[in-house]
Formats: sequence, structure tokens, C-alpha cells
Amino acid sequence: MRERSRGVNRLIVIIILIFISNPALICAGTGDKKEKVQEECSEKGVVVSVSRDATEAGIHVLEKGGNAIDAAVAVGFALSVTYPAAGNIGGGGFMLIRTAEGENTLVDFREKAPAAANQNMYLDSNGEVIKELSRLGHKASGVPGTVAGLYLAYKIYGTLNWDELVAPAIRLAEEGFTVNNEMAESLNGLKKEWGNYPGLKKFARDDRKPLRAGYRLFQPDLAVTLRRIAENGPEGFYAGKTAELIDEEMKRGGGLITIEDLNQYQAVIRDPVEGDYRGYHIISAPPPSSGGTALIEILNMLEEYPLGSYGFMSVRAVQLVIECERRVYLDRSIYLGDPDFVDIPLSQLISKEYARKLVSGITTEAGSSSRLDNPPIRPESEETTHYSITDSEGNSVSTTTTLNGSYGSKVVVKGAGFLLNNEMDDFSVKAGVPNMYGLVGGSANAIEPGKRMLSSMAPTIVTKNDEVYLIVGTPGGSTIITSIVQIILDIIDFGLSPVEAVSTQRYHHQWLPDIVYYESGTFTQILKRDLEEKGYILKKRSPIGDVQLIMVRGEVSCGVSDPRIGGAASAVKEISTRQ
Ligand code: GLY
Repeated sequence: MRERSRGVNRLIVIIILIFISNPALICAGTGDKKEKVQEECSEKGVVVSVSRDATEAGIHVLEKGGNAIDAAVAVGFALSVTYPAAGNIGGGGFMLIRTAEGENTLVDFREKAPAAANQNMYLDSNGEVIKELSRLGHKASGVPGTVAGLYLAYKIYGTLNWDELVAPAIRLAEEGFTVNNEMAESLNGLKKEWGNYPGLKKFARDDRKPLRAGYRLFQPDLAVTLRRIAENGPEGFYAGKTAELIDEEMKRGGGLITIEDLNQYQAVIRDPVEGDYRGYHIISAPPPSSGGTALIEILNMLEEYPLGSYGFMSVRAVQLVIECERRVYLDRSIYLGDPDFVDIPLSQLISKEYARKLVSGITTEAGSSSRLDNPPIRPESEETTHYSITDSEGNSVSTTTTLNGSYGSKVVVKGAGFLLNNEMDDFSVKAGVPNMYGLVGGSANAIEPGKRMLSSMAPTIVTKNDEVYLIVGTPGGSTIITSIVQIILDIIDFGLSPVEAVSTQRYHHQWLPDIVYYESGTFTQILKRDLEEKGYILKKRSPIGDVQLIMVRGEVSCGVSDPRIGGAASAVKEISTRQ
């Protein structure tokens, strides 16, 4: 019966993909030529990221005999060169590691509020939010965590020499990398910001003419910074010359990060958040990300319904997903924040019992976010990028990293060649006022010195019978959680292949605003009409997410990169014998 409904679902998705999908969405834009989305498979390891050069940096490390954690460090640094919109050394993120022995570790390298930060720092004398202060410029930056996080992962699990892992990024910065169409367009779009943020001109041609695909971008200052990191580890960033350059930049622009903040920054190891869904085990990022908690809460609720039998993109299945998302984003805003500062009722939020209470209010009609009344909890928290990696030994890595907004605060540290994040906007700058993703937060996520701002990043690993099955993640701010939910449902409930699941259109609801956002082509006219008749407000929007997925089948890993931005999956061919 289950097999039959899977078959029907597959047929439906194929018909939908053929007849209503935007063909551009199943062709990766990697330059002038569109490439078909396909799996790249190997028993020896797979890397999937948004950037071909970064993916190949990871493959190079795996082929040299490094493990998945070594490769993740190399990909992370390479992305800071080849995907400056979100890849970074001036931002932060979360790395989920599952070793071949089945040990799960989460490296939290989320940025922190500087010591001088306070709850009113983005408010005027009337207590109103000063527009853009938390999003643009020097005051928008938290203390970066990426270099500390990559180093911590390396210290625990890495096997090659540290400098060998930074070397591909140095080479890409020094010898340049070739921009594709999407990157050229994105970098040309920065021209309007040059007046306020002149450091962005490092991404322009000397003659200031627009970049075209094929242009080679050199980043000499960034190469020197990376070399300091290669030679000195985190000291090459959080102390010495790089720290001085950040300090000078902050003083120039009225920012708050000090040398002391940099010296004190520590990445930390946390227990991942874990749950079960229809016989699969879900492992993901715990607070200070809301990602894994919300993901598990939504899946727990959906497990109460036979979604597969309702059918892929059936009105009942879509309606239930929306209603569960609505309820969980309310919890996100009430309870989630940095666990080092607030008590989070985590075990209750991710319990099956709580999910059963939450779904009891769902009917077949649209709910209302303004009248939502989640059961009480006893007292006890879009521009990002993701990469997934497996190796020949059976280690897996799922990393999501970000500057927050595209190109972060837009501030390039003079003389150091890298962008700083605008992650302070992920705090609730004022209770009840939405951030750049429209997310409304409460006191659990209020600004405090040294606190980590709440994230939605959800690097995730799904296992079946204790064996890794999926390694998945995506950018997309508040849509990260709902994109991962959809990938899991599409594969587990609706029987889609990895290519279909990654390519198919997405929709999103986040409690407030009370709107169902969807990509072009997501809903048929009939489904749209049915949802509107139930009372849903639907709004078409730009593409959602950029999923980097690996599915493991026995000994073989198969990677698929989302066509929305045009990334690359690549598979290891030969591993050279270690010296
Ligand atoms: N800055 C986006 C996130 O952390 O969710």
C-alpha cells in the first residue's frame, strides 16, 4: 500500500515537474551554459556546495587522504573567497559532524554580541528602531566565529596539516577564480553600495566596467589574511595583525567590536538536537539556532498524519504543513535564544506529547496567527550557504555558514580583504519588531553582551538504522527550516528522488506575517484556489533556499546541488596513499 502511494506520488511529481516547473529551476546556472541537475556518486567521498571551486577544494583534500572534516575546513575557507555573499571568515555558522563510529558533534561558531552591545543600541531616544542600523555598516556586526569554529573542528577530528587545508583558499584568492554569470550579476549589483561602502570596490574591475562571466577575480588582501590564518591558526585572525585591522575598521566606522572581544571569542561544542520521524532519526543544530528544534517540532506534528497517503502537493498535505509551521514559528519567537543566557524548555518542545497537543487545534480550514494559542510550556529560544561532505571512512559533515544578509554588513575590513557580518539583526532588536526575514522575536532573543543571536540554520543529518541516510542543509534565513522540512517530506513521505526533491518548488509559512510564500510554479491553479478558499493568503516570491544534499545508499554517497544558484556536487575518484 505504502509502495503504491509512493509510486503515485512519484508519477505526480514527474508530471508536475514537466508541466508546471520553470525549466530554469532544473538546470543549474553555471555560466553561459545551463547544466542538468544530476547526482554525483562515489564510495570514496562526495562534496556538495554552492561553488564549483570550493567543492573542488574539498575533493582535493579528500583525494589527498584527508577526511570529511579536513575537507569541510578547506571548503569553508574556499567559500570565503569564491562565494563572498555568504561564504566567510567574518561571519559564523554551525557544523554538524557524524563520525564513522556514529558519534554526533555540533560545532557552534555563531557570532556573539560585542561586550559594548546593549538592548537599546538600535533604538532612538523615543525607543523607535533606527532603520538599517542593525543591518548595514559597522554597528551591525557580531564578533565573527568562523575561523575559531573551523579550527575547533579540525583540532578534534582533522588529520592533515592545518595549512594544507587553508592553502586552496589562498591559491583562489592569490591566483584568482573565474566568476560565472550569477556571480558577475551579484557583484555588479554592489555598485549602488560603493558610495557608502567603498571597500566593496574590491569586487569591481579596475576600469569599473561591469563584470562578465569568465572574469578572473583576484583578492590579494584576503590572500594575505588567509596566509596569517594558515600560519598561526585562530591567532592569525583573533590576535595580531588581523585583529588590529578589524579594530581599526571598527574605530573608523563607529563599530563596537574590540581587540578584547576578538581575543575572547570561543567556538563551542554542543550536543545536537535529535528526534525521530517515521523510523528515521533526525540530528540537527540546537540553540542558539532555532533550526533543529523547529525542524523536529514540525516533523513531530506532521507524523500525526498519513501525509504520504494524502499525496504530494495535495491540498490536505500542504495545508497541514502550513499549519504546523505556523505553530512552531510562534514557539520559536517565545522560547528560543542563546542557551548560555536563557532557559529553553527544549525537551518539551521536541517531545511527541507536545506535538500531539499542538496538532489538536488544527482543522481543515486556515488557522489564524493572531488568534493562535499554543499550549503552555512549563518554565525550564537569507543569505547563507551550506555544504555537505562524506568521506571513504564513513564520516559525514553538514555545515551552514553565513554573513547573514547578502555580503553581510557590506563593510570590508581595510587591508584584510574580507567582509564582516550583519548578524546583530538576528537578535530581536525590539520585541515585536520584525528583523530582515520578517521574524518577530521576544525577550529570549534580546541583545546582551557576549550573547549569541538566534539563528535558523539547520545543518542536518538523517540516519536510518543508525546508518547515515541524508546530509542536508540550505541558506534562506527563516525559510531554512521549512525548506529542510520539505526535503525530508518529499523523500520520506512522497518518495521523490534526491534530484526531484532538490529541484521541486518550495513554499513557506512562519507564523507572522500570516502569509504562505511560494516560488513560481509551486501550486497548480486548482491547488491555489483550494487553499485560498480555505482562507490562506498566498504570495509569490523569489526562489527559496539553495539545498546541498547527499543521500547515502549502502557504501555509495550521491550528492545533488540545488539548481537555484548553480552550485556543484563532485565525487572523489582516487585517494592517494598517505605519506
Ligand atoms: N542569519 C540567518 C540565520 O542565522 O538564520
